[in-house]
Amino acid sequence: MSRTISAIMLVAAAGLLTAAVQKRRADADDLIAARQAAMALSGATFGGMKAAIDGGGDVTKLGFSARALAAWGHALPGLFPAGSDGGTTKALPSVWSDRAGFEKAAANYEAAARTLGDLAKAGDKPGIAAQWAVVRGTCSACHDGYRQPDRK
Ligand code: HEC
Repeated sequence: MSRTISAIMLVAAAGLLTAAVQKRRADADDLIAARQAAMALSGATFGGMKAAIDGGGDVTKLGFSARALAAWGHALPGLFPAGSDGGTTKALPSVWSDRAGFEKAAANYEAAARTLGDLAKAGDKPGIAAQWAVVRGTCSACHDGYRQPDRK
């Protein structure tokens, strides 16, 4: 093979590799945007539940929101695959270096949200108010270990 042809092939290969890396970054950025949006939506849902609980209305209607949060807690680790660090993420490297701890934090959240749903279904007002705080604790527990603190 002539030197010119090998050089062209090398440049082409390097170009493909760069394109692949750029594609990977774009995929990671899409995923980061999706999980940040899901977190924001879950925050809105969770805050709305607090308002409904404090308002003293029919808590049985909160079951749907609680089950949605539990489903999100179940799916959550899947939106943090290897390679989705960097970029605009606020996830700490511990999400990947301490995977078992991160998954446990998500499982704790899912379980707490499921209990919240059960209490809502039962119409247990004091129980649901107390459990709302338990769920909030599972949000904070994960954020403390796996998310950059908010800059204030
Ligand atoms: C298992 C870990 C975990 C749990 C549980 C968790 N979060 Fe998060 N949360 C994160 C991580 C990690 C980020 C940063 C995501 C990123 O920037 O890629 C985040 C980001 C957020 C954000 C910022 C989103 C944005 O726009 O950048 C909000 C709001 C949020 N979480 C709310 C909540 C609420 C409310 C709960 C509980 C109802 C909760 N989270 C439970 C790990 C968790």
